Amino acid sequence: MSNVILIGFMGAGKSTVGKELSKKLDYEFIDIDSFIEETAQKSISDIFKMAGEKWFRDQETMILESLTKGDRRVIATGGGIVEKEENRKLLKTCDKVIYLKATVDKLWTRVGKDKTRPLSNDLSTFRKRFDNRKPLYEEAASYIVDTDGKSIDDIVDEIGGIL
Ligand code: S3P
Repeated sequence: MSNVILIGFMGAGKSTVGKELSKKLDYEFIDIDSFIEETAQKSISDIFKMAGEKWFRDQETMILESLTKGDRRVIATGGGIVEKEENRKLLKTCDKVIYLKATVDKLWTRVGKDKTRPLSNDLSTFRKRFDNRKPLYEEAASYIVDTDGKSIDDIVDEIGGIL
């Protein structure tokens, strides 16, 4: 089975890189957040408000589980995917889990106060969440790609080179 799974904090570029990488590899591209939004016919922030974070997290796990059984897909995950142990176990069954790493300051400049992201309103909470998740991304990753100062094309080429 060969899926490529992109993990990393909000703003790391998982969706943008994923889309380009899927073209390069001729794989199908699936963005778990968009998949949930399309199925629910609601934006992530409305889902958090109306159905709650727990419902969102349950959907995330269900979709991750079904996708990991497939093949030839580039999968962009949401930044919180590593929080549940169940998800981390699923990620461990995949051999191409790429952590798109960036500094928290860079991430905040990209997505801080972004209205479409319910968990990026406040810098100190954003930092804490980042610090808590950092070791989880590192542990789940089979490859770590430092994205700071690199273009999308550079990152896609780098991933292409390590796969
Ligand atoms: C979340 C990240 C978001 C989205 C949701 C929760 C998180 O995805 O899944 O808002 O917990 O970090 P991105 O990483 O694509 O922003």
